[in-house]
Amino acid sequence: MPALCAGGVPIFLAMLEKLPRAYLPTVLREHHLASPSRSGVFSAEADQRLERFAQSIEFDRRLYRHDIRGSIVHARMLERVGLLTADEAEAVVTTLREIEGEIDRGEFCWRIELEDIHMHIEQALIDRLGDVGRKLHTGRSRNDQVTTATRLWLRDEIDRLDGALAALQTAFVSRCDDDFDVVLPAYTHFQRAQPVLAPHYWLAYCERFQRDRERLHDARRRVNTCTLGTAALAGSSLPLDREYVARELGFERLAENSLDASFDRDFIAETLAALALLALHLSGWAEEWILWSTAEYGFLELPHAFCTGSSIMPQKINPDVLELIRGKTGRVIGDLQTVLVLIKGLPLAYNRDFQEDKPPLFDAIDTVTAALAIAEPIVRETRLDRDRISRGLETGYLDATTLMEWMIARGIPQRTAHHAVGELVQQAMGHGIPLAELPLEAFSEAGIDADETVYEVLGTQNAVRAFRTRGSTAPTEVRARIAAWRRQLAMDDHTNQP
Ligand code: ARG
Repeated sequence: MPALCAGGVPIFLAMLEKLPRAYLPTVLREHHLASPSRSGVFSAEADQRLERFAQSIEFDRRLYRHDIRGSIVHARMLERVGLLTADEAEAVVTTLREIEGEIDRGEFCWRIELEDIHMHIEQALIDRLGDVGRKLHTGRSRNDQVTTATRLWLRDEIDRLDGALAALQTAFVSRCDDDFDVVLPAYTHFQRAQPVLAPHYWLAYCERFQRDRERLHDARRRVNTCTLGTAALAGSSLPLDREYVARELGFERLAENSLDASFDRDFIAETLAALALLALHLSGWAEEWILWSTAEYGFLELPHAFCTGSSIMPQKINPDVLELIRGKTGRVIGDLQTVLVLIKGLPLAYNRDFQEDKPPLFDAIDTVTAALAIAEPIVRETRLDRDRISRGLETGYLDATTLMEWMIARGIPQRTAHHAVGELVQQAMGHGIPLAELPLEAFSEAGIDADETVYEVLGTQNAVRAFRTRGSTAPTEVRARIAAWRRQLAMDDHTNQP
């Protein structure tokens, strides 16, 4: 908990709690009574237990820049419609910027009785400007204020995450040329199935992350809605210029129903849903590479700079980072769950429950941000063990399906070919040899009239070269996809330039 301040003197919460109210210094009592949300209707001060329980300043402080940005535009709008004079608006804007600077520099005093970031900034303004400061909240409620600040903040975070995802995709694409000639087994049911080029895997990860980017982009369209001016829940009788506010804050659209605007947390839930899927994607990749780094697989060696040791077993090199990426996915899914349960069954419009939407939102954003940041260097620096991979390739009959297709291309019905290849695999297994080492007689025994050309599709290297369909692991296809990804990512990079 940060230091609390009274008259510029930091007082720690623990000390504060121990003092009976009557012994609090006068200056603090005045500040206490100053809470802008307690009107003249109250006949008692807020109990300190309420203050401790209800505060959100502990976590919503991180919205301060966006809250101030909303307030500055709100003040300019009040000036436009004649509710603030030009001098008043100027004073408000200048003072808000000063407050922002103080928070930036860590000089701002946080006081638990001011509950949240919105009241802290407003109170600081009032402390400095008196009545002029008391005008800022004209035509505004914390209900539209909190969603405005959260939407502005989240919009920035989504843009940042988009960049982080693009960086991770770039890391995968940058491996593709070097790894182009590496053939890896691909699995279904976790059983060896067919051979693919290593870059086919890398680009599969890129496709997943692209969908994550698209989902975030789509969520961003609804995040980017202006709720400011919908006030508490019914709008305002003052002549507010909502269009101006939306334009100045870069919002794409106005919330068209004040009741809905006061309630709507879909934008948080759907962003969390997109983040949960993104975390699942990271987790799946992490699991694959954890397996591939084991002695049993031995496909790759993780960079030692990102591995940990064991306190008792000196030989261990552990993939903790990947395990944590996998593990932290549980948190992100939990964050989504928290917000869904939070919203479930609540009546229109604002409910204080909504305050609890921010810790899971912040947690999910922070967790995914950290996971993406550490995934990128791992993707770049991991080394494939080419010898080990190629030594293992000729087991598992990865070329069986290609052999079947070779037969189909020569007019043999699929079911007949499927059965015959099964027999051939059984024969080869019996001899402990790959399909490529079966003599031509074995084919005739299985009822297939084959010539020497059959050996052109046998062996995993040959099998990979036999593919031809769009989106397959055919080398020409994979080359084209690598080029397409390069173009796409370079374009994104260009459009991301300021
Ligand atoms: N800290 C509050 C939140 O996050 C701000 C809105 C408070 N509104 C109210 N009517 N009490 O939801």
